[in-house]
Amino acid sequence: MAKTITTKLYLLTLTGLVCIVLDGPARADHHLRVDHLRCEYRINPTGMDIRQPRLSWKMISNQRGQSQTAYQVLVSATRQSLDADLGDLWDSGRVDSGQSIQIVYAGQPLKSRTQCYWKVRVWDRDGEPTDWSPSANWTMGLLEPADWQALWIAMPDDEVDHAEENDSVSPYFRRTISVKPSVQRATVYVTGLGLYELWINGEPVGDHLLAPEWTMYGRRVQYQTFDVSELIQPGENAIGVILGKGWHADDPFFASPPPAERAFGAQLALLCQLEIELTDGTTQTFVSDDSWRATLDGPIRFANLYDGETYDARREMPGWDEASFDDQDWQPVKVVDFSRANLIWQRNEPIRTFRNLRPINLTEPETGTFLFDMGQNLVGWCRLQARGERGDEVVLRHAEHAREDGTIYTKNLSDADQTDRWILTGRDNEEFEPRFTYHGFRYVEVTGLSEKPTLDDLVGVALHSDVRTTGEFECSSELVNQLMRNIVWTQRNNLHGVPTDCPQRNERAGWMGDMQAFCQTAIYNCDMAAFLSKWILDIRDSQSPEGRYAEIAPMPQQPAIGAPAWSDGGTIVPWRMYENYGDTRLLREHFDSARRWVDFVHQQNADAIWRIDRGGDFGDWLNGDHIDVAGWPRTGAEVPKELFATAFFARSTAIVAEMARVLGDAPSARKYQNLHDKIQSAFLREFVSLDGHLAGDTQAGYVLALRFELLPSPLRSPAVTYLLEGIDRYRGHLSTGIQTSHRAMLELTRHGHHRRACQIMMLREAPSWGYMIDSDATTMWERWDGFNKERGETLDEQLEVGSPVVGMNSFNHYAMGSVGEWVWRHIAGISPDADRPAYKQVVIHPRPGPGLNWARATYDSIHGPITTDWRLDGNTFRLKTTIPPNTTATVHVPARNVSDVMESGQPTGEVEGVEFVEIRDEVAMFLVNSGSYEFISSRK
Ligand code: BGC
Repeated sequence: MAKTITTKLYLLTLTGLVCIVLDGPARADHHLRVDHLRCEYRINPTGMDIRQPRLSWKMISNQRGQSQTAYQVLVSATRQSLDADLGDLWDSGRVDSGQSIQIVYAGQPLKSRTQCYWKVRVWDRDGEPTDWSPSANWTMGLLEPADWQALWIAMPDDEVDHAEENDSVSPYFRRTISVKPSVQRATVYVTGLGLYELWINGEPVGDHLLAPEWTMYGRRVQYQTFDVSELIQPGENAIGVILGKGWHADDPFFASPPPAERAFGAQLALLCQLEIELTDGTTQTFVSDDSWRATLDGPIRFANLYDGETYDARREMPGWDEASFDDQDWQPVKVVDFSRANLIWQRNEPIRTFRNLRPINLTEPETGTFLFDMGQNLVGWCRLQARGERGDEVVLRHAEHAREDGTIYTKNLSDADQTDRWILTGRDNEEFEPRFTYHGFRYVEVTGLSEKPTLDDLVGVALHSDVRTTGEFECSSELVNQLMRNIVWTQRNNLHGVPTDCPQRNERAGWMGDMQAFCQTAIYNCDMAAFLSKWILDIRDSQSPEGRYAEIAPMPQQPAIGAPAWSDGGTIVPWRMYENYGDTRLLREHFDSARRWVDFVHQQNADAIWRIDRGGDFGDWLNGDHIDVAGWPRTGAEVPKELFATAFFARSTAIVAEMARVLGDAPSARKYQNLHDKIQSAFLREFVSLDGHLAGDTQAGYVLALRFELLPSPLRSPAVTYLLEGIDRYRGHLSTGIQTSHRAMLELTRHGHHRRACQIMMLREAPSWGYMIDSDATTMWERWDGFNKERGETLDEQLEVGSPVVGMNSFNHYAMGSVGEWVWRHIAGISPDADRPAYKQVVIHPRPGPGLNWARATYDSIHGPITTDWRLDGNTFRLKTTIPPNTTATVHVPARNVSDVMESGQPTGEVEGVEFVEIRDEVAMFLVNSGSYEFISSRK
């Protein structure tokens, strides 16, 4: 159907301005438009402190081969100027360039509080300009410490100390302000240590949860910026803030003894600055200072992240956040001396409510004990409504499992209570929802209700860093589909400002080895650019002065110690940012840190074998030697630790050399390439025999040597053979742990054993991904044998018999989900090309295999959506694929001869924009321009 566009023609006539509206077919030359404007990876970010932010956009076209040949960016200080096409902050003019991402702002120096409105147009491949894009905006935050007039304030000491039970009580703070008439704009800059919730005139501000999130507080504290113009009125107004312990003041994992990073002990504090611009051009500023008042008499009697929240609704203070409230009984606050120099904007997406889930089942295992089954292992909390007597205590306990008798299983929560307590007022229609905790759970046990609840009384609120979904995937295997759903749930369940290992037991730490392994999968599923940019700062902040990366970031204990593969997240994750998002600025900022890490390992290990200083030395954690399954070999899977460590040392060094090359630093590139060659020679000498056998003869060893390109070419094929023999010894299963399972799958496919990889994917008996799915998992397990039906009749036996780690058995751990990368690269068939990063050139290479004869996928890359849709019917392979404008792709389809392949019904040689490159291993490769294609390959 022909598209119509509306054109408005304004004519100045003698009688005034006349507007004639013309509807007609879209202009034939209008084949390209610009949209999806991003600033520092975010949509309309506020309060930014990056003085030269980077801009990106996407293009949309239904034509093949469309591309950008030039662009023009306008940035204006007002919407009106932008509408009038005036770039009063920056008019880039026409820039002849195909670059549409990571465009560095180069206009007027940006000052604190500046509002920036922007739009862009591009010139297409024929030199025709597009229309201007829709406009977007960003605002600058407070760039100089001197911009902060607010003071850190806290409860007076005697109030906090005099009673131990006050330790976990949430303080309430407030003050009233008198606002002059005619508010133009009101902006609040706010943060807290640990968590805060801000209210103005009885209304909550923003939709952030668990703000300001987790950083190395001694080095950086994030603040948030909100436009509160709508909430402020002339006359008396009230600002109210509630604080909770959160990551700062709680005792998170590794926080004992008390962490060095704490700003001031465990005390909670607030920083708040409200700036009101009036229409007469003057400004009123209200800040946190000694004029505020505070109380510990509020309803939140206890709250911490692991254990839950106790809310005594009888202590609610109606109107506490309104001007008319009488705060005579409240205490004056004390001002706390803490630097404001390390305040930074929050660059990652805030934690928000993602979904409200209804329970799927409700039982009453014992009189008065109710068990809700959410049908999904989720992370967040519950909203519950109930009726009862004043003083009744309703208790909600959260768990990942329920036993056969309907009681909850909590031993794998270790020391995390995950229990919320709610004391009722006795009013009708009471409702409870906690705010300064979070739980990992599928089941909720509720006691203390005076009436039997219904399914409608409880809602599971899933919350996490609000990263945008970028991946959609579906294929012919329901096992793989469920696996991919579980992986995405587990990913979201573990993003709370920091990527955590698990969300339920008292750990929930930013284990770097887990994200190092999972990172590429995570990037396919969701837009991780802003989130990882923030976490890479945590990685740097946690690095020790001598260059040692930690195992965890943020790492509360300092100085940090680091372990192979975990600390190497400090090189591998930034490199993923480059491959997927083309982030060279991040590489530049990070390079010295990455280099220092490699230098540190080298200094300790002069002969280039990583023998000492391996921190926790986890090796290929949770490999086959940890598995307790009948008939399973209990030894022989563990790759020698020195081999494992040295392989990662080589990989990090290779990445540092690559980073130097990208940054144009040839001497460093040479230096680290030489170091890499030295490590590789040492690896071969120390671990590889003449026939190519590796020390230990483990699957993991061959996988690492292949994946990290440590073997000379004559030894690669033997290594693949030994890997396959190793798989045979384990009854056709992988015996690998969290660092090498996904890498094993990738290497099998890369070396021509895709069938074998698919067979492993389709396994149903333990240990396997399929076993998890058949056990009704809705999220990924930490351990291959976290649960095993063979161990006994009861859930306790199935979870525990033979397991030394009852308290360390999470069912919401993404590391084993790193295999999502294999599904994306080889079943969806979409990969970045490191030589032309950020999907400027896309690799399309889907592969059928046993159990997998069709798949459909979309990955919304930084350049725009890439889709594949393929099917194998007998000997006919059909592939529909779409490549976004301004990119190219190499498309791989199975074929023995190029004449086997047609594109949209024509021989490929006759199609403009499709260039045949080569046939290798019965795969034909074509270079294509942007647009949609349909390849059909019929093997004769
Ligand atoms: C975590 C892992 C982590 C490991 C280090 C565990 O407790 O849950 O995922 O990587 O410690 O071995």
